[in-house]
Amino acid sequence: MFSKPEKQFEKEFYRLLDPYPVLETPRLRLRQVFRADKTDLYEATNDPRVVKYEPWGPYGMQETETMVENILDQMKCGLCTEWAIERKDDAKVLGLIHLNNVDFFNRSAEVGYWLARHCWGKGYATEAVKALIRFAVTDLKLDEVVAVCHPDNKASLRVLEKAGMKYQMTLPQYVSLRGKTADCLQYHVTRWDLLS
Ligand SMILES: CC(C)(COP(=O)(O)OP(=O)(O)OC[C@H]1O[C@@H](n2cnc3c(N)ncnc32)[C@H](O)[C@@H]1OP(=O)(O)O)[C@@H](O)C(=O)NCCC(=O)NCCS
Repeated sequence: MFSKPEKQFEKEFYRLLDPYPVLETPRLRLRQVFRADKTDLYEATNDPRVVKYEPWGPYGMQETETMVENILDQMKCGLCTEWAIERKDDAKVLGLIHLNNVDFFNRSAEVGYWLARHCWGKGYATEAVKALIRFAVTDLKLDEVVAVCHPDNKASLRVLEKAGMKYQMTLPQYVSLRGKTADCLQYHVTRWDLLS
């Protein structure tokens, strides 16, 4: 009995994440999350400016520890798709970037990211997003990467544009931010856009 193609693709997808891949860019190293990262990550998770367009936070230290423990649990199960964004110069962890909502049938996933306020405006997010979407397509063999963004989050929309992603559609009433629902914009890039 043959397994379905999407099941085979899923198995292969997680096999490619073991050992956990390290992605190098000129200034950054995207690598697995370690327990010791919690102090650097707390600088971001605790900051209302960082979580303004996120449906979670701001987090205290304990919630940040729980978040890190959940990531470590996923890592143990071989199901982790979250990378710490480490600056090579000083080994400081600036934030996280992930592939969520992996759709093994359509070979698509959603990229998401956040960085601590002290490092905004230096091109780090763009560098990380470009690296992860290229890895997703070339190594993980995804056909499409999408991103979902609040329309007021101009910095993030600009990151998506700079990373080569294009507006795809509006998702009505998609997110609830502190009791207020809002539409979101979906951006995407396909394997054919990226590799042509
Ligand atoms: C969005 C975020 C990741 C951007 O990180 P970053 O490292 O500062 O991004 P970059 O430096 O690569 O690029 C930011 C771009 O947005 C632009 N920008 C910043 N604020 C802006 C604003 N209010 N209006 C328009 N453009 C803006 C910058 O000028 C830059 O574009 P440029 O290079 O053309 O000048 C960071 O602000 C963040 O972590 N925000 C909170 C979490 C979040 O929103 N995550 C995304 C959820 S979809």
